[in-house]
Amino acid sequence: MDTKIKTLNDKIELAKLGGGQARIDKQHQKKKLTARERILYLLDEGSFEEIGALVTHRTKDFGMENQKFYGDGVITGYGTVDGRLVYVFAQDFTVFGGSLSETHAEKICKIMDMAVNVGAPIIGLNDSGGARIQEGVRSLGGYADIFYRNVQASGVIPQISAIMGPCAGGAVYSPAMTDFTIMVQDTSYMFVTGPNVVKTVTNEEVTSEELGGASVHSTKSGVAHKTSGNDIECLEDVKTLLSYLPQSNREIPQDLAFELKDEIREHLADIVPDNPNKPYDMHEVIEGVIDQDSFYEIHKDHAENIIVGFARLGGKSIGIVANQPMFLAGVLDVNSSKKAARFVRFCDCFNIPLLVFEDVPGFLPGTDQEWNGIIVHGAKLLYAFSEATVPRVTVITRKAYGGAYDVMNSKHIGADMNFAWPNAEIAVMGAKGAAEIIFKREITSADDPEAKWKEKEAEYAELFANPYSAAERGYIDEVILPRNTRRKLIKAFAMLENKEVSHPKRKHGNIPL
Ligand code: HXC
Repeated sequence: MDTKIKTLNDKIELAKLGGGQARIDKQHQKKKLTARERILYLLDEGSFEEIGALVTHRTKDFGMENQKFYGDGVITGYGTVDGRLVYVFAQDFTVFGGSLSETHAEKICKIMDMAVNVGAPIIGLNDSGGARIQEGVRSLGGYADIFYRNVQASGVIPQISAIMGPCAGGAVYSPAMTDFTIMVQDTSYMFVTGPNVVKTVTNEEVTSEELGGASVHSTKSGVAHKTSGNDIECLEDVKTLLSYLPQSNREIPQDLAFELKDEIREHLADIVPDNPNKPYDMHEVIEGVIDQDSFYEIHKDHAENIIVGFARLGGKSIGIVANQPMFLAGVLDVNSSKKAARFVRFCDCFNIPLLVFEDVPGFLPGTDQEWNGIIVHGAKLLYAFSEATVPRVTVITRKAYGGAYDVMNSKHIGADMNFAWPNAEIAVMGAKGAAEIIFKREITSADDPEAKWKEKEAEYAELFANPYSAAERGYIDEVILPRNTRRKLIKAFAMLENKEVSHPKRKHGNIPL
């Protein structure tokens, strides 16, 4: 992808983008493609069919009857990406700042309805100054019409939002209700109230970038699932993301060609350190197991103590959720629970099997976490896994402690196949802490408390710091050598391919929001 980013101008030329001129972002002096260039770059060459090109607004106020532009600030239509149908809209900032009028909203709603009825993804390329100020409540109504459709489409078709310019006020709630939000670095921002209002209300001085730029939303808030360096990279991101997804909830993702060979990966045995307190990068485990270079990470820079993303395993699209020992020892906390829960629910909506790599010392203790509701947020992840009916497989690479053992796709909450590596520790807590609590009296009354503690720690570790007592009860289906993991997983997912689960009839569950 890097080469593409460096040659933005060349790519525009190469793509023969209809003679449009890339424009310059005033603030950052950075090139932005026009709305039409964006659509043409995103879609397969020659595949775009425009709908509603002759639509104009109906406003007469503020001299608007003399300012009509065909399309009314948004280009809508359909085409293909890698041969698969998608619906797309691109807001055109050169027409009233891409602001949303009644008719602009109607155009978007029209293709959203078609996308749901036909069963194909909808992609929104957002670049707008928000509600068309000259239209008052009619533009607010237009937004609400879109929000309503976002919700009706949720879980039916994939919805992807690319933020390629301003996205302010209530306008942010449409992307927030879609499945993925990708922001362009430096040229896009999202906020409910802009810097001027912030200054008036809170006296806080903040720039648009600091308040709602791509960096902020991909790290602190988690509003953005991905940050792209420029327009081209953003559109490439949309295409890559689509490649892992089915067209709708009525389909499964497309498989890539694959032939099973021995699939042994010797180097997997060298990743987890002998010292259980030493971190390692779970990405190495993921990369070692999946098809080469197939990992597409979501929310990479937000809540880094958990990793989520799409990959291919034996040619099949899967969703991966993995604790990351490199950050906060891989604990579950408020943000990581929310991040993973949303991802799990997306995969479950769209028939994408889930693979979990587990190395988790528990939930993060402390007032900060408790006061911010780790109880209810941790419950989200527990709920999300428990309700997921897609094939679900777990590999415990090291620690599976406490409540986090239950939460991270345990058999008890409906996982199908659970594997553990031989050095896995499945216990209520680490041996040191456990010994201190249950042998407190013996330790304190011993002549050498320190030695006694060590002795009891070893005793506890011998009994529980292994995968075998869990395997004896069937909580672990098999203890496997790391080198065999890829082969075991490919076979397990193939075995689970036709899994079907039905739950009691209900309107919908009540996930702890
Ligand atoms: C009508 C708008 C507009 C809007 C911009 N324009 N926003 N026209 N309605 N909301 C027009 C400008 O008048 C200008 O027209 C052209 O678009 C380009 O705008 P500039 O200001 O010159 O561009 P720039 O300096 O890049 O600044 C972009 C901007 C700024 C930061 C987005 O335009 C801005 O602050 N706009 C208003 C943002 C806003 O408050 N929107 C309402 C949010 S509330 P000319 O003719 O001069 O080229 C909302 C409610 C939704 O959206 C509620 C849903 C529930």
